[in-house]
Amino acid sequence: MSAIEHNDSGILAVRDLRILFPTRDGRDTVKAIDGMDFDVHPGETFGVIGESGSGKTTLGRALVSLLPPTEGKILHDGTDPATLTAERFRAHRRDYQIIFQDPNAALNPRMTIIDSIVEPMEIMREGDATSRRRRGIAMLDRVGLSAEAADRYPHQLSGGQKQRVNIARVLTLRPKVIVCDEVVAALDVSIRGDVLNLFADLQREFGLTYVFITHDISVVSHISDRIAVTYLGKLMELGSAEDVVERPLHPYTRALLSAEPVPLPSHLRVDRRVILEGEIPSPVSPPSGCRFRTRCPSVQSRCAEEVPAWREVKPGHHVACHFATADGPPEDNQKAPKAS
Ligand SMILES: Nc1ncnc2c1ncn2[C@@H]1O[C@H](COP(=O)(O)OP(=O)(O)OP(=O)(O)O)[C@@H](O)[C@H]1O
Ligand code: SF4
Ligand SMILES: [Mg+2]
Repeated sequence: MSAIEHNDSGILAVRDLRILFPTRDGRDTVKAIDGMDFDVHPGETFGVIGESGSGKTTLGRALVSLLPPTEGKILHDGTDPATLTAERFRAHRRDYQIIFQDPNAALNPRMTIIDSIVEPMEIMREGDATSRRRRGIAMLDRVGLSAEAADRYPHQLSGGQKQRVNIARVLTLRPKVIVCDEVVAALDVSIRGDVLNLFADLQREFGLTYVFITHDISVVSHISDRIAVTYLGKLMELGSAEDVVERPLHPYTRALLSAEPVPLPSHLRVDRRVILEGEIPSPVSPPSGCRFRTRCPSVQSRCAEEVPAWREVKPGHHVACHFATADGPPEDNQKAPKAS
């Protein structure tokens, strides 16, 4: 019942995406993204969750055209950015922005905060110096920082304040989509909630679409409309946040969730690490068939032989597991795994 919608209506439409890197010695290939298909709808928060090395940052960078697809394509509002002229591409990409985990990543330590904020507008040749500064200060205020911060340097601000500056910097371009890659992971637990609330407020105010990348399911479960679960460069499950968190269909999603504690108040949950048994295999040579099979408690011999189809088992809820049904994931095996 594979029902991937191959229209181009999503604000982001990912089609048969593969992104490969040569290994350091040049002898092999890292399959960072190994076949993904999904759409992101305008105005939604699309959560992407998966363990380290599952390809989340690679995906995020590709979504905003910082990395070209090796195969397949990513459409922006129906347009393939790879087909645009250099000049049109420059104007187009302001609509698709990314914020990284490291609050220092986009800030020049030798530039004042206001200079960093107005820099993207300068590059886009918007307005004059006075109007850019005025807009920059207004945006600083909007993200909860006083005008006094404008003439400071990054080292004089906390991590949370710097992440607010990064949001302001990106917002001055009035983007349609912001990819947020682990944006609260480096922040003190006590302020993560405030920064997440700011993201939510700005989304409503500016009509933004978010792709929210994290390894921490408790972060995405609170703010996402839909959640995609990645494992070794592929999607394992995609559905509404409520379905994925309350009624997961894939054994991997269930394992991620089972590492969560009994529900605690949200401010206590955000720093919880996901712990799964076993090593993540290498994306250079992922397991045959289902790539989760070496860690799956429900594995069968078929899992080593056949790649599970990406199936829509109930409306809007996709899963890649031979044995998952609309009622849930397969039962765990009572005995040792049959395939290795
Ligand atoms: N430029 C590159 N050259 C070679 N390999 C790369 C490159 N970028 C990423 N990779 C590899 O691709 C895989 C996916 O990396 P990626 O950074 O996208 O994962 P991630 O899900 O963001 O992980 P994390 O949670 O640790 O940030 C990893 O095996 C990584 O080592
Ligand atoms: S039961 Fe098989 S197909 Fe399903 S997740 Fe486990 S290993 Fe993959
Ligand atoms: Mg990453």
